[in-house]
Amino acid sequence: VSGQDRQPRRFETERLLVRPVMPCDRDLLHALEQDPDVMRYLNGGLPTPLVPPAEDRGYLMPRGTEAEIHAVRLRGDNAFIGWVAFFPEDQTAELGYRFAKSAWGKGYAVESCVPLLDHAFNVLGLEAVSACTMTVNRGSRRVMEKLGMTCRQTVHPHFSDPIDGMELGEVIYSVTRDEWKPAA
Ligand SMILES: CC(C)(COP(=O)(O)OP(=O)(O)OC[C@H]1O[C@@H](n2cnc3c(N)ncnc32)[C@H](O)[C@@H]1OP(=O)(O)O)[C@@H](O)C(=O)NCCC(=O)NCCS
Repeated sequence: VSGQDRQPRRFETERLLVRPVMPCDRDLLHALEQDPDVMRYLNGGLPTPLVPPAEDRGYLMPRGTEAEIHAVRLRGDNAFIGWVAFFPEDQTAELGYRFAKSAWGKGYAVESCVPLLDHAFNVLGLEAVSACTMTVNRGSRRVMEKLGMTCRQTVHPHFSDPIDGMELGEVIYSVTRDEWKPAA
């Protein structure tokens, strides 16, 4: 099965519409990265170019052609509020997410990731799903905890951009198929 075939199709939650990004989303994806608070724990909060260098395409600066990145919109007015990412590997997958500051604190990150975990375990039959963030990224860690993930490891990778708290490294969370309890 190719990587693209392992992606979830478009899905809806109570408040959100989620579908793979398209080239016409490019400006929205780029605009999201111009808020230093959004990028604080990703590149230290630097503005990003519309046309990223080759090594930064994909997760750091998606531009609408990545099968793994899924745009999240409000069902009410169709406003773009951010994205979630699903990176399948062999028997596992990794999650990622990035939302506009105006949409923080409303439960949207958790709401849009729950169907990704359902997809991983119930459609693809994977063994585990992981996510990784900077140790100091409290909001991101809380999303992982609310998804039922457990912190398994702290690692100290090389950071190419100076980022607040990088000396504390990154944390890797995961949830196994046996641990996953779909939302009631
Ligand atoms: C991290 C992020 C995705 C959270 O999105 P969100 O939609 O606000 O998350 P939710 O509302 O679904 O849940 C967040 C939970 O974390 C808590 N939280 C959010 N920000 C927090 C912070 N800075 N410190 C502590 N807790 C925080 C919320 O209170 C909530 O928990 P609660 O329901 O127990 O109160 C969002 O802040 C974001 O996009 N940040 C910038 C990009 C980023 O860092 N992505 C992760 C990179 S690995």
